[in-house]
Amino acid sequence: MTRAHQLKVAILISGRGSNMAAIARACAAGRVQATIARVIADRATAAGVVLARQLGLEAEVIEAREGAGRAAFEAALMRSLQDCGAELVILAGFMRILSADFVQHFAGRMLNIHPSLLPQYKGLNTHRRVLEAGEREHGTSVHFVTDELDGGPVICQARVAVLAGDSEQTLEARVLALEHRIYPYVVGLIATDRLELRGHTVVLDGRALTAPLFYPHDDELKQATA
Ligand code: GRF
Repeated sequence: MTRAHQLKVAILISGRGSNMAAIARACAAGRVQATIARVIADRATAAGVVLARQLGLEAEVIEAREGAGRAAFEAALMRSLQDCGAELVILAGFMRILSADFVQHFAGRMLNIHPSLLPQYKGLNTHRRVLEAGEREHGTSVHFVTDELDGGPVICQARVAVLAGDSEQTLEARVLALEHRIYPYVVGLIATDRLELRGHTVVLDGRALTAPLFYPHDDELKQATA
């Protein structure tokens, strides 16, 4: 590790928080050299808030008050992120669209995980849409966030075969298991200063990625997430 201190990350959630927990456990186990400065949920009912506290993390709820609009919510979120010293913002099942200005402020320092093989199936209900389309393959992508929804440069993907008899639930479960491997891995690459965004190019170990890292075909990734 070359940096003087561990990278401070904030994780933004709206729901169950299983990706948040996977990243937190990887940090706690020393597999990822980062510190979770704060977990922030945009709804008090998010199960991930309870889970975060069970994991010993500081969890805050910032709800958008009715009528107050996006600007007030984002101002409160920005204050919280600055207050906890977040250097990297990790969206993990965060269901709110952030403004272009907000995203721009964290350019190259904000990640998202989306349950599809981007650029295919941006948006909601990806598992259902993949089944309805009769696809044979599905997966998940970790990407840098830009102001294009689910459109930022992709860093790492994992794929699963769609099996005969799959339901949304069975497909989601297999995708989620891979998300829990690739998301901590990508956070670890950033925490050790190996991965960065330059313009719209993802750079790993000083070299531009010509295609996303692919789990499980990438040997290093396989080892790191074993
Ligand atoms: C994941 O499938 C992720 O890809 C998507 O939302 C889901 C979040 O699940 N963005 P969890 O809250 O991390 O369990």
